[in-house]
Amino acid sequence: MDKLLINGGVSLNGEIRIAGAKNSALPILAATLLTPETVQVCNLPHLFDITTMIELLGCMGVQPVIDEKLNVEVNSSTIKHFSAPYELVKTMRASILVLGPLLTRFGEAEVALPGGCAIGSRPVNLHISALQAMGADVVVVDGYIRASVNGKLKGAHIFMDLVTVTGTENVMMAATLAEGQTIIDNAAREPEVVDLANCLIRMGADINGQGTDTIIINGVSELKGCSYSVMPDRIETGTYLIAAAATRGHIKVKDTRPDILESVLSKLEQAGADIKVGDDWIDLDMHGQRPKAVSLRTAPYPAFPTDMQAQFTALNSVAIGAGAITETVFENRFMHVHEMNRMGASIKVEGNTVFVEGVESLKGAPVMATDLRASASLIIAGLVSENETTVDRIYHIDRGYECIEEKLQLLGAKIRRIPS
Ligand code: EPU
Repeated sequence: MDKLLINGGVSLNGEIRIAGAKNSALPILAATLLTPETVQVCNLPHLFDITTMIELLGCMGVQPVIDEKLNVEVNSSTIKHFSAPYELVKTMRASILVLGPLLTRFGEAEVALPGGCAIGSRPVNLHISALQAMGADVVVVDGYIRASVNGKLKGAHIFMDLVTVTGTENVMMAATLAEGQTIIDNAAREPEVVDLANCLIRMGADINGQGTDTIIINGVSELKGCSYSVMPDRIETGTYLIAAAATRGHIKVKDTRPDILESVLSKLEQAGADIKVGDDWIDLDMHGQRPKAVSLRTAPYPAFPTDMQAQFTALNSVAIGAGAITETVFENRFMHVHEMNRMGASIKVEGNTVFVEGVESLKGAPVMATDLRASASLIIAGLVSENETTVDRIYHIDRGYECIEEKLQLLGAKIRRIPS
């Protein structure tokens, strides 16, 4: 298993391009199951999770074709099995996203029930109850969700008890081919939900209200093929900006969307960053200054994203002053804190809040990644440490950050991948 070796203490400087958004690309690939026609998906990031989703389509009998520009064409007319096996679901929970499309188009679907993971118990009860409200029979047997419907799913008025991103996406996809109107109340407003809705609309779906907490879908009889380019990854964007701020650097990220990063950019400004934006770029300059600690609270979009909480904890750990970070989305997303304390950080966990006292610099140490965003935060911690840090279990990072060491090297970081 590879590790990342980081020699810290270098300010990040330079320009990089941002990849397509993982959390848009995954539901959009699942949405290709909604039509027998070919859907071309462009700007896919090169990530392990994307490979897993392509493999999942493959084991159903759908063979995506990758063209010379690395766009993927999916034609699901060859589908043979309506099933997502445990072997794939256990490596990627987002496999649950095939449930809605399979059920609404073929009337049946079987998806292994995802278990808990490093950041929380993460049940899928809201996906299931919404599909039941639309007329599906759903049972959980032998660790599998088995869903079927006699005829077509029926439009329904669904109130989501909690804001759920993939839950909203699953129900929205299911509703595109249902009979009649579906209203999803308390829907997720995340930009990735909007990106999926825009792709579905291009496929012929009738959807309104995406980006608000009420999404209205009028079912249509069929969807057609299209070509769609995945939006830029806001979490990758934010991660590099935070890394630059923590290292007192100056970077420009290109091919991104400043308009969907407002909560993050405002926290970076509070931390002392000088930020300039254009339509598709963000320039962050710390003018060589140490960042100031910030306090924040995660919540569904447009509030501060849980997927950027760990990276800000790393920034606070070397900032001037103290900051409190409260996590309200997942119950166990502080595993990185213990590793940062081993590097000399001063962080206390109390319930769902961490209190961080900034120190002048961290000390390099061997550390272990526990999930995707925790891995990113440990890399940032390594970049602001004296001496050498090795980050183990980096398969987590390869799930969600395209060529991370190459991009950081472009910005001047001393980081390389080493075999264990
Ligand atoms: N929840 C339930 N029941 C459900 C669904 C969700 O109780 O049926 C709870 C969850 O346990 C959690 C909260 O609701 O406490 C919100 O979870 P949500 O369903 O929104 O999370 P998700 O859809 O499984 C997506 C992203 C995550 C991101 C969260 C929150 C994808 C593929 N994953 O997960 O991304 O953290 O939304 O924004 O879109 C990541 O990229 O590192 C990542 C974990």
